[in-house]
Amino acid sequence: MEFNTPFYQYHPNWLEESITQAANGSRRNRIQIRYALKANHNPLVLSHIQKAGFGIDAVSGPEVAHALDHGFSPDQINLAGAGKTRSEIRFALEKNIHYLNVESLQEIHRIQEIASELYTTARICLRVNPDIDAQTHPHISTGQKGHKFGIEESDLKRAFQLIKASSRVHWLGYHFHVGSQILNIKVFEDLCHVVNQIQQKYTALGWTPSILNLGGGLGIDYHVPHAQADFQSYFNIINKNLIRQGAEVHVEPGRSLVAGACSLVSEVQYTKLSGGKNIAILDAGMNHLMRPALYGAYHHIEKLGRQNLEILPFDIHGPICESSDCFGRDRDLPKLEPGDLLEIHHAGAYGETMASAYNLRAGIPLKTVDRVVVA
Ligand code: LLP
Repeated sequence: MEFNTPFYQYHPNWLEESITQAANGSRRNRIQIRYALKANHNPLVLSHIQKAGFGIDAVSGPEVAHALDHGFSPDQINLAGAGKTRSEIRFALEKNIHYLNVESLQEIHRIQEIASELYTTARICLRVNPDIDAQTHPHISTGQKGHKFGIEESDLKRAFQLIKASSRVHWLGYHFHVGSQILNIKVFEDLCHVVNQIQQKYTALGWTPSILNLGGGLGIDYHVPHAQADFQSYFNIINKNLIRQGAEVHVEPGRSLVAGACSLVSEVQYTKLSGGKNIAILDAGMNHLMRPALYGAYHHIEKLGRQNLEILPFDIHGPICESSDCFGRDRDLPKLEPGDLLEIHHAGAYGETMASAYNLRAGIPLKTVDRVVVA
């Protein structure tokens, strides 16, 4: 093997395919893509996103800076986040990014203050909490009452009053994001209906949006190795159900564009029996790919290289000192031995970006390599 494990192996063909599907679907339906950088900020991946002409959805000052450093122009970038600090807002305004997605009434005040200090005008969209169940894991569901994200609909009237009184704030439209890993496409239809109601209500009061940003959330089937997201149904459903009134439509896919762009490759260190179960312990752990530990997320696991004919159920663990550090239980795999290599699929979204140095193991950065030779 050419590289030390563990590492992220990059799959440019998968990425090119997802980008092509997304670009074609969005173009046909006159929808603009702002890629959610939080899913994967690796320069190798960003170079493809940039070439496709997609913009960026950033959620922090450093993400805005990262996008600018990687060739995206300010007018391609928007900034969301329920907790924007003064310095993040100042940075976004100084860099003159396209717009900020505002998540509270207090944030409107803060933006007005900072824009005045800078003698500039801040372009904003209002992030509205549409109270929609995204039918996904509760940790990544973001658009229901009681969630920290966005402005409640009942506060919208007040938000528009504040905007009217804020000479340094220029309102562009609405932003929504109901959650992530959404596989029931009907959720996006429900979202469109809420967006239609909101915009009709406030258009009648003189507030006609020029941007409708529906956020991200399109899921992928982690059970099928190399599966792609269903961009065609996604864009069609938006086009069919959203009333635009001439507004630009933006979406912010993250996972669906990059999940299959990388796998996590790891070496089996030890195998043993515990309570009759076959246990394999890898050199990759939850510090490298947190999704299974955090959400009980399924990632397909495959043995690379030489295949053993005997198939046995294995629990696949990392080396971290927690029992949650487990990539999968009862996975039928060719009998594993120390030195075997495993590929953990669909690790391209929220893998490397959520890595940590827990147990002082080298979490970040793992090296993303574009070619692996397995003996
Ligand atoms: N827009 C906003 C405002 C968001 O908060 C997110 C994701 C996206 C777009 C992109 O969503 P996507 O298309 O990737 O579903 N760590 C979790 C996912 C957290 C998603 C956070 N926000 C996971 O590994 O499943």
